[in-house]
Amino acid sequence: MLLKYQEKLPFTEAKNIHSRIETFISDTRAKKRYFQKRKLDTEEILSYLLKRDLTFKGQKTNYATHNMHAFAAKFPPQLPKLFINELTTTGEVVLDPMSGSGTTLVEAVLSNRYGIGTDIDPLAVMIAKVKLSSLNISETVKVANSVLQQAKKRFSHITDAQLCEFYSPETTFCFNKRNRTCEII
Ligand SMILES: C[S@@+](CC[C@H](N)C(=O)[O-])C[C@H]1O[C@@H](n2cnc3c(N)ncnc32)[C@H](O)[C@@H]1O
Repeated sequence: MLLKYQEKLPFTEAKNIHSRIETFISDTRAKKRYFQKRKLDTEEILSYLLKRDLTFKGQKTNYATHNMHAFAAKFPPQLPKLFINELTTTGEVVLDPMSGSGTTLVEAVLSNRYGIGTDIDPLAVMIAKVKLSSLNISETVKVANSVLQQAKKRFSHITDAQLCEFYSPETTFCFNKRNRTCEII
């Protein structure tokens, strides 16, 4: 399965990439020189970056959509962000072939790169897609309200005491703020 996110990249950037590629194709020697230089630079930067402390202890990891869903062995977002920013420039493509919940792809988009991800696990792909989808806020609020109304109708006969058997007091409080019988701990 393939995930591709390019909505946030401005059109002018996409045009620039296209014209740069065309120039490369028409000048093979320049193309070769560019990639040779780029390879050298990349290796130097990589060896420098890999010597750094890459634990990012104590740094915030819940910004943007990163904490939307739990996922095993997630990167701290600062990790892909560092490599993306040091090794690529605006408008370039970032590929994560085992993208999991899409941390790298979210960071690629936040840094105005194209993010392409693949993963063997359909759940991982779904989580990543959700984290990368832009929402129409008013449409989302409309749908959420309709779900809420349906749920209220369907579960109106359930008492707070019954809810308390299954849910924590905090959750029960959220279900029914006005008629609370559970203590908040
Ligand atoms: C440690 S997780 C990646 C987590 C990701 N960096 C994040 O922050 O969410 C490794 C991922 O590799 C995927 N994977 C393992 N073998 C794979 C394969 N052969 N092809 C594609 N994906 C694979 C797994 O499904 C899993 O989602």
